[in-house]
Amino acid sequence: MSIGISDDGKLFTIDTENTSYQMKVTSQGHLIHTHYGRRIYGDASINLERKDRGFSQNPTPEKKLRDYSIDYLPLELSGFGSGDYRTSAVTIMNGDGSTCFNPVFEGYELKKGKYSIEGLPTFATDNAETLVITLVDKASQVRARLFYSFLQEKDIITRALEIENDGDKDIRILKAMSTSFDIAYGDYDLISFPGRHCYERVENREHVSWGCKRLGSTRGYSSHQMNPAFILAERNTDEENGEAIACALVYSGSFVAEVEKSQYGSFRVQIGINDEAFSYPLAPGECFRGPEAILSFSAEGLDRLSYNLHMAARENLIREIPDRKHRPVLINSWEGCYFDFSAQNIIDLARDAKTLGADMVVMDDGWFGKRDDDFSGLGDWYVNEKKLKMTLGEMVERINKEGIRFGIWFEPEMVCEDSDLYRAHPDWALTVPGRTPSYGRSQLVLDFSRKEVRDNIFEQMSRIMDSANIEYIKWDANRHISEFFSRGAEDQGTTGYRYMLGLYEFLEKFKNRYPGVILEGCSGGGGRFDYGMLHYFPFIWTSDNTDPIDRLSIQRGTSFFYPPETMGCHVSASPNHQDGRETPFFTRCATALTGTFGYELVPSRLSDEERSIMKWANEYNRSNWEIISKGRYHRLSDPEQDDYYAWMIVANDGSKAILHTVSKTNHGNNRSVSIRLRGLDEKAWYRIGENVVSGSVLMYSGMLIPDRKGCYEAGIFIIEKVE
Ligand code: GLA
Repeated sequence: MSIGISDDGKLFTIDTENTSYQMKVTSQGHLIHTHYGRRIYGDASINLERKDRGFSQNPTPEKKLRDYSIDYLPLELSGFGSGDYRTSAVTIMNGDGSTCFNPVFEGYELKKGKYSIEGLPTFATDNAETLVITLVDKASQVRARLFYSFLQEKDIITRALEIENDGDKDIRILKAMSTSFDIAYGDYDLISFPGRHCYERVENREHVSWGCKRLGSTRGYSSHQMNPAFILAERNTDEENGEAIACALVYSGSFVAEVEKSQYGSFRVQIGINDEAFSYPLAPGECFRGPEAILSFSAEGLDRLSYNLHMAARENLIREIPDRKHRPVLINSWEGCYFDFSAQNIIDLARDAKTLGADMVVMDDGWFGKRDDDFSGLGDWYVNEKKLKMTLGEMVERINKEGIRFGIWFEPEMVCEDSDLYRAHPDWALTVPGRTPSYGRSQLVLDFSRKEVRDNIFEQMSRIMDSANIEYIKWDANRHISEFFSRGAEDQGTTGYRYMLGLYEFLEKFKNRYPGVILEGCSGGGGRFDYGMLHYFPFIWTSDNTDPIDRLSIQRGTSFFYPPETMGCHVSASPNHQDGRETPFFTRCATALTGTFGYELVPSRLSDEERSIMKWANEYNRSNWEIISKGRYHRLSDPEQDDYYAWMIVANDGSKAILHTVSKTNHGNNRSVSIRLRGLDEKAWYRIGENVVSGSVLMYSGMLIPDRKGCYEAGIFIIEKVE
């Protein structure tokens, strides 16, 4: 049994392999959080002090409860307006206009199997139980149900929140955090992953001081600007040592994460749908279901935390992946051709792809409707045969004849005003009547909360899909939502949430209709890189920035929560189109090779030497795919602070590892660089090139990286165990 419940039904302990998560019902019926960390045996509430504290409200006027206040108790779910002044997990506007919500314990249920949430993606396992704790606000008869489950070996706790109106008046949910709990003691750093377009998810570590730190996105999508995932780490926690808690939301829309250090030094930790512009009406008998949140705890530093999260994403989140054995190495037409191509250019790319050992060519933006630039055409998913100079079917047939597979780009959720679709249905865009909308890349967002909109796009896409042998789709979304206004809704406070439900429903339907098609996620690069998307897209275009040096920080930051094979990584031309930096071809390969690999260039423009590196690289990615997609990833430095980034991935059976190093700079008379490796067997011996070295030397003394001869030099090392 991994969920332990005391005989009196008041103490709940969820144990995973190395961790315990514990809650208790107090004398007054509040559910308090007593522990999340290493495995414990017994009741941890003994660690909490009851005290008469000034300006902390009590539940009764009686003297004997002067020492009881939810203002300082570590709560498992706090409601606004009943004496807890920290940021609330749930805020309700009641039928009588009050905003009080005082959730107290009503009962629990223990169920076989892990819960799922209708309409929303979740982690899944056959090997778990679900604990459902019901809390009720007695005056309004509004119930909050907390769902808990776990992934035993990965030290992951999952949680979801449901709110049901069992009263007789309409209410409104103004805030509903998917997970929330208080840590009574400690001193923590908050590690978050902020960024911007072309510089996503770069690690940011800061000390948590007094007050409430809010991270989030109000953009309708999880965003480039802040990832829906963060880590709370003890101050001295590093990659290998110390305690840390990871928290993430399985959702792709607007979110908020809050960490509040309270007056007595406790910490409230929560994540959920962003409460800005969120207001969910609930009539009597109705129920709201929020997205899932996940937590993981490691007492062995951040490296272990990432391993837990990587294995959970791989085995419990990402749906069935076609081509699990090896993902096709592809050439994407975007940075090579932009909007300027005909079918012949794509066929030429395919021919070259074949001679160079790639598997697929992907025709990016520009093949449909009226689309020679990014001012028109989105919404019109019919092939522009005048531009291509042949039908799609013919073109794909010729590509397949070269022995190359074919993929295509779509941006299904968007529309340009200059399109047939918009001219026919201007009300299908998320705009407000009487207001000039804001434009992103000259486009508007389609109202995916409406079924007729989804059905139209689905039908258009299916017509294309059925007309040719399309084996891969790159699914883009190149702006964020600004006007959360659906012409199909009576209540606008739910538009953002219902948009996401609509999108997930569409993806579910699409996956079922085209189960063999590989889906790559994208939103101007990594604008929607989250666990919700990963459920449907086994990998996501990491960033529109393909500069291999900027990519070091982007990919490193991404690796905290997301495994390497979920990152789309391509080699592009030099000078780089985003920042003009010139880098060696081998360096571009070294940076990209540990992800889902490909190119954004025209190979015929490469030198012979570069073409031969390309052949080698394709084979390298293929032959090491097992390690990349299943192994344990280790971050060995920080390119935001060090001169270089080094990372390695070790096969799960320990027989082999790959180590990549890329330097960001160079100096005259350089100092030597030695890197301590991780994840090897200290007692074993390893072959690296000509040398045979012991695991203990490589991990505890270090490995010398050969002297750099130029800027941006890279190394790739194969480390094989010697039997
Ligand atoms: C986005 C993507 C790019 C490319 C363009 C096409 O920016 O991230 O890779 O597909 O759209 O318009």
